Amino acid sequence: MKALVTGGAGFIGGHIAEAFVGDGHDVVVLDNFEPYYHTGIKEHTVERCRALAEDSAGSYELAEGDVRDAAFVDSLVADVDVIYHQAAQAGVRTSVEQPRTVTEINVNGTLNVFEAARAADVERVVMASSSSVYGKPQYLPYDEEHPNEPVSPYGVSKLATEHYARVYHEVYGLPTVSLRYFTVYGPRMRPNMAISNFVSRCLHGEPPVVYGDGTQTRDFTYVDDILWANRELLTTDVADGEAVNLGSTDRIEIKTLAEEVRDQLAPDLEIEYGERNEADAEHTHSDISKANELLGYEPTTSIREGVSRFIDWYRENEDWYDPLVRAS
Ligand SMILES: NC(=O)c1ccc[n+]([C@@H]2O[C@H](COP(=O)([O-])OP(=O)(O)OC[C@H]3O[C@@H](n4cnc5c(N)ncnc54)[C@H](O)[C@@H]3O)[C@@H](O)[C@H]2O)c1
Repeated sequence: MKALVTGGAGFIGGHIAEAFVGDGHDVVVLDNFEPYYHTGIKEHTVERCRALAEDSAGSYELAEGDVRDAAFVDSLVADVDVIYHQAAQAGVRTSVEQPRTVTEINVNGTLNVFEAARAADVERVVMASSSSVYGKPQYLPYDEEHPNEPVSPYGVSKLATEHYARVYHEVYGLPTVSLRYFTVYGPRMRPNMAISNFVSRCLHGEPPVVYGDGTQTRDFTYVDDILWANRELLTTDVADGEAVNLGSTDRIEIKTLAEEVRDQLAPDLEIEYGERNEADAEHTHSDISKANELLGYEPTTSIREGVSRFIDWYRENEDWYDPLVRAS
């Protein structure tokens, strides 16, 4: 198959692109190398995919550009079978500072992708959504019927794109799926997230900083589990028109996570506490029964195992990754 992966130089899109090239598909990546964290991490991902393509039946092409450029998006979508739309301004806190930019990239950019996909009759658009569409929990775990009251411009933008996805499916018959990712982590992850931050600081003998009292809880989902679901959607239409949670096996308090990382890397350090950001969700916890019923989704990586794997990967890649994390 020929797949367009928008945001494919980024963390999750990079894993999708790499996996598809390895599986023998032809992959085109659209990415503008948005510099809100160090673009060296994205360049590393692109190089990895290019090298893989040399020994694979699949191919890899990087198309540097912006999802806000409708003509550019049209030109790339014209001959692809499927689209994995990951490009977005992904940070909740950035969205609070720049709500207009977030809307332009996340909402208008997504509309460009849907319009191009409709014109080109693509087989499916799989879109990265987020647990941020839920907002304050009325009950936990969140199932897909839980009310949507996002507490950040980022959450609003993702909810808007989900509605577009549903409407493009209902009105135009375009197969679309929205995947509500719950905090994803793993190799080459964004530097400005809790796990990469804690690991980096501990390795440098600096205490991990927890924002708030640390009793906030998160589903941390290992990227391989997210990848598994995206791969399934290459060949099945069971989730077309749906929004589906993709979370992990369990949830963990942020302070417990910080302690876990600290205990593995620098047991003598005391955890530090900083001011909580209002736009950050208090708790996220996903009910994954819909993904399980539709796709057979069963995340296999527990948080403790995933954190250990991430720390091992971080140590093996410390020479190039750590300086870029520090510089972000
Ligand atoms: N990582 C998570 O925990 C998480 C959780 C929920 C949802 N998501 C969603 O998953 C997707 C991927 O997230 P990620 O963690 O890999 O983030 P990321 O920032 O690593 O990847 C996003 C990529 O999109 C690119 N991009 C940004 N604006 C663009 C534009 N205007 N035109 C073209 N490319 C652009 C960036 O350069 C980047 O490479 C995003 O849509 C994000 O909102 C991520």
